[in-house]
Amino acid sequence: MSKNGFYICNECGFKSIKWVGKCSNCGEWGTFDEEISSTSKNAVKNNLSMVELSNKVVSFSDIQLEKDFRYKTTISEFDRILGGGLVKGQVVLITGNPGIGKSTLLLQTAKEYTKYGDVLYISGEESPAQIKSRGERLGINSSNLYLMSETDIQNIYEYVTIKKPKVVIVDSIQTLYNSAFDSIPGTPTQIRECTLKIVEMAKKQDVSFFIVGHITKDGKVAGPKLLEHMVDAVFQFEGEEGLFYRILRSQKNRYGSTNELAVFSMEEDGIKEIINSSEFFLCEREEKNIGSMVVPVLEGTKVFLLEIQTLITDVTIGIPKRIVQGFDRNRVQILISIAEKRMGMQLGMKDVFINVPGGLSINDPAADLGVLISIVSIYKNVEISQKIAAIGELGLRGEIRKVFFIDRRLRELEKLGFKGVYIPEANRKEVEKNSYKLKLIFLKNLDEFLERVSKDG
Ligand code: TYD
Ligand code: MG
Repeated sequence: MSKNGFYICNECGFKSIKWVGKCSNCGEWGTFDEEISSTSKNAVKNNLSMVELSNKVVSFSDIQLEKDFRYKTTISEFDRILGGGLVKGQVVLITGNPGIGKSTLLLQTAKEYTKYGDVLYISGEESPAQIKSRGERLGINSSNLYLMSETDIQNIYEYVTIKKPKVVIVDSIQTLYNSAFDSIPGTPTQIRECTLKIVEMAKKQDVSFFIVGHITKDGKVAGPKLLEHMVDAVFQFEGEEGLFYRILRSQKNRYGSTNELAVFSMEEDGIKEIINSSEFFLCEREEKNIGSMVVPVLEGTKVFLLEIQTLITDVTIGIPKRIVQGFDRNRVQILISIAEKRMGMQLGMKDVFINVPGGLSINDPAADLGVLISIVSIYKNVEISQKIAAIGELGLRGEIRKVFFIDRRLRELEKLGFKGVYIPEANRKEVEKNSYKLKLIFLKNLDEFLERVSKDG
């Protein structure tokens, strides 16, 4: 075998003939691993005859669509993230830090899929006995669930092709290897080749796969970025140390929408979904409050109610601090400038702290108004009823701009017993078609808001 070694960047897939410390393409350090470019004995040249080739080409009108069939579980939030269940032949990558609960979640869902047929759980990390003892804790007792301790993708290929399970779970991709390639498991070549094999199996045999992928300390999938392009869906399982809940986020989904987010809790007997997540994020609040505001933000297609808290203090030393958690810091700078310029507030010698409790981050511009109101409330020391929320994007002129999906946001507020909400005047036409149990307070700009605050107190 000719040994054409070269090096490939784990980050961007850039190739280099010699090892380098810094990738000249993406600028990352220490990301190069050796690769063997040519395959060994098992590689066979595989050209198709014209007859075989024309069998591979199908006329558009001849393609029969199967009714959108999806495997469902009793964990409705998990199904929702998948876009309404797992599609036949779909390959889903689940990433997350070690110990976050990937194996637990997948073992639980494995059990659910056994109602459709055989499910195969392949683990290169734990022995069947270890998986069984975990499974017993989760109340799993299904004869349709098969455990396999295997790391050679060729053996897995063989088994899956013959036995054709409905769903296969691979825990984890970093433990697999293809013996046709010389590199060790976990290297970019092996990750890429094993994933290719998995995708091939999935599409040829209509078997759905979940692949576990560990992530590096900076939150990236360990292995080439290519991995994310090869699979149909990428979900990240996240959580913060010390918090009992976990968030499953869809970053890519060919069969559903992205940026979906579901909340789970980690309990003694496994992972449980939290369906009413807004309630969960909003607990422990007082009737009236200074410096806090609730905003309904959109994550994918679901609305979450989150609280924004603000604290303002005099600068004690050095330059004023803007400490922001759970919101874009640059956005806060802009909002502070708007508050100074358009509302006459003087924040130049103040430290401003903004926090979104619960660990979620807001990316939705519709939260602008809520952030600004929480700043105004603490600055002017005005109490705001916690039964009132705010929706609106702010323009630099102090105008309050129209937001999308207003109906969904208002329904979520209604559901949780809110009494009123500040919303953009620009959304009036749209919302007046419907009826809400909420008092809608329309605002064109910040001057109108200030008028209201001084009137309502
Ligand atoms: P695990 O699924 O092994 O994480 P990963 O596969 O992402 O590395 O989860 C391990 C953690 O979960 C471990 O700290 C124990 C905890 N756990 C529970 O809290 N409840 C349970 O029912 C189970 C099985 C695990
Ligand atoms: Mg695991």
